[in-house]
Amino acid sequence: MSPTMPRPTAIEMAPRDEIRALQTERMAKILRHAYGNVAHYRRSFDAAGVHPDDFKVLEDIAKFPFTTKADLRDNYPFGLLAVPQERIARIHGSSGTTGKPIVVGYTQGDIDCWADLMARSIYAAGGRPGMKLHNAYGYGLFTGGLGAHYGAEKLGCTVIPMSGGMTERQVQLIHDFRPEIIMVTPSYMLAILDEFRRQGLDPRQSSLKIGIFGAEPWTNAMRAEIEQAFDMQAVDIYGLSEVMGPGVAQECVDTKDGLHIWEDHFFPEVIDPDTGAVLPDGDKGELVFTTLTKEGQPVIRYRTRDLTRLLPGTARPGMRRMEKVTGRSDDMIILRGVNIFPSQVEEALLAQDWCSGHFQIRLSTQGRMDCMAIHAECRPGLWDGEGLLADAKALVEQIKNTIGVTTTVVIEQPGGVERSLGKMRRVIDKRER
Ligand code: DLL
Repeated sequence: MSPTMPRPTAIEMAPRDEIRALQTERMAKILRHAYGNVAHYRRSFDAAGVHPDDFKVLEDIAKFPFTTKADLRDNYPFGLLAVPQERIARIHGSSGTTGKPIVVGYTQGDIDCWADLMARSIYAAGGRPGMKLHNAYGYGLFTGGLGAHYGAEKLGCTVIPMSGGMTERQVQLIHDFRPEIIMVTPSYMLAILDEFRRQGLDPRQSSLKIGIFGAEPWTNAMRAEIEQAFDMQAVDIYGLSEVMGPGVAQECVDTKDGLHIWEDHFFPEVIDPDTGAVLPDGDKGELVFTTLTKEGQPVIRYRTRDLTRLLPGTARPGMRRMEKVTGRSDDMIILRGVNIFPSQVEEALLAQDWCSGHFQIRLSTQGRMDCMAIHAECRPGLWDGEGLLADAKALVEQIKNTIGVTTTVVIEQPGGVERSLGKMRRVIDKRER
């Protein structure tokens, strides 16, 4: 597709019936692809007593077993690939529940499709060919940076591949290069806003007209603040590595009423997180996705753990919307766009000989930045009266290098961490939203 192709594309404006017919055809194909080429799916379908031939109409998908993060972990690193490794053009990753990341592989066809869907997303957000796009999503294993990058190029934008961090520099380049679009996590956008003010620059005079924010939950109150401060449009983008990366769903700038799911490539369901039962559209529950076209690593009924509900299409009438994600049905923390599981922190702590195993994660907002402090308790007999400062420092470094996030570590004396009277409160979240 060239930058001059007409957008929105025909399929984006297609009626619901046409999209459902396409989904049915693609679902039948992807079930066969997964069953025929991935041992895990063959085993799990067989165990559930279902076969791809049992799929006739879209509702039949409910007969097939779910895929979970544990399945990705158990098949680390390449066990879920559905094509020979030589056909994989790129690998991305995201946090797993333990020290090992979860891994996703893309064929060249998958990368091209992702770029198309990101181009579609940026267009829906108001981006147009020829605009300059400042990309402050992190480049690397994280899907944000490269996902946005390829999509912006495909749409015909001029990309500034800034990546995250170096806030002063971000502001300088926004000021000097005059991009119309910024892609970044919403929390980091607030840090950029503060830096504008610190440098004595009026954000309303900046060139920015469109912000495409995602990778973490954010509120309409934050939208209002950013739009007001920069005199810009702020829209939501959603995605996850397991399914593709950013660009699974996108809010349209004309309506700003939730995110249209690109249903020609992803089939969404909302389930009751406790029973697994499929809920009717409009009911709130856990979002589940089946990829309809992915070759390299298809996922069947992947439990995202994100809580939302499905609504009818508006700006893209045939594509259902998902409401802004309000939370998760597991304990994953998203801190400044980085996904963290308490179990990863626990694993790092239990490897320390001073640690008694009692710990608590405290989240707070300082200035604009969300912060994480780990309070871990020292074993009896090892307490030095001061907080084992050298050990705490070493652990900060280790967590930075393994989990990828800067934290504070406070080592408490024996008995210093609150004991649970029932369900342990591992995470105390006092962040301002
Ligand atoms: O965060 C992909 C992404 C990059 C999306 C850039 C948007 C922009 P993961 O690192 O695999 O992928 O994390 C996926 O992040 O299951 C949600 O819990 C959360 N998440 C992503 N987008 C949103 C959003 C990327 N718009 C996990 N609102 C998902 C709320 C979001 N949560």
